[in-house]
Amino acid sequence: MRRHKVSIIGAGMVGSTTAHCLAGKDIADILLVDIKDGLSTGKGLDLFEASPISEFHGHIEGTGDYALSRGSDLVVVTAGIPRKPGMSRKELIGINCEIVVNAVSECLKYSPDAKVIIVTNPVDVLVEVVRRTLSLPRNQIMGMSGMLDSSRLRTFIAVELNIAPHDINAMVIGAHTAENMIPMLRLANVNSVPLKELLPQEKWPEIVKRTKNAGAEIVSLLEIGSAYYAPAEATAEMVDAILRDKKRVMPCSVCLEGEYGLSDCALGLPVILGKEGVEKVLEIELTDEENQELAKGAQFVKEMIRENF
Ligand code: LAC
Repeated sequence: MRRHKVSIIGAGMVGSTTAHCLAGKDIADILLVDIKDGLSTGKGLDLFEASPISEFHGHIEGTGDYALSRGSDLVVVTAGIPRKPGMSRKELIGINCEIVVNAVSECLKYSPDAKVIIVTNPVDVLVEVVRRTLSLPRNQIMGMSGMLDSSRLRTFIAVELNIAPHDINAMVIGAHTAENMIPMLRLANVNSVPLKELLPQEKWPEIVKRTKNAGAEIVSLLEIGSAYYAPAEATAEMVDAILRDKKRVMPCSVCLEGEYGLSDCALGLPVILGKEGVEKVLEIELTDEENQELAKGAQFVKEMIRENF
């Protein structure tokens, strides 16, 4: 059986940590691509040299040359720039959009059927813009955000309850911004015990607030750069679900085609991930308030697209 191949574009902290997490799963050959080819080659070599100890059985390599990504089953895009002082959000969107559209189009030249996971921010905007610009079917492209936000939510619940984080089932939907995230505590459970039976509802707002601000909390603690361990684990889990056709239900940023009454934008919602990528968007029943928040997120993503493209 042929080994799968994953190309990760961007060898910064998120890209290289994703490569590390994926190597740990031993499910695919890994290529790290970066315009700084010393960085990607060095990190690729370093990771590959760990394989005798980590029992990774494939090939890991870094490069600056997209041609080496030929035959990829999946492409993960982490490339982009973080916001610098004095820079407008608009400028950041423009620059990251150009970087990400170019990265995906280069990769698809060599692997036209590869599934694409966008990690670069603003993720929902970039997923929709890349899909439109390159006319991709919506199953082929998605964004990583919900798995990260949900993992943070699960962690905070676990700490509060002193229960294993893995046993906490909880999901965050909506756009990947503090204002538009919707932590779904209403549906959360602990190994099927409803959360409200274990954690009084007065405690919920604090958990919601911390989840919405979790990205910013890390940014302010690190002082330079943003989170990468949890984003990388979340991305690797999505890669694993797709390559191994697991049909897992995961919240992902997905282009909407009428689901939840929304279209022409990408938003975080539960989907089934398998070998076809986004195989189905699950339409769960939402309260009026949740529907309104979701529509607000859609409005935000659409405005960003309208203002910038
Ligand atoms: C975060 C940013 C990177 O949530 O999206 O950490």
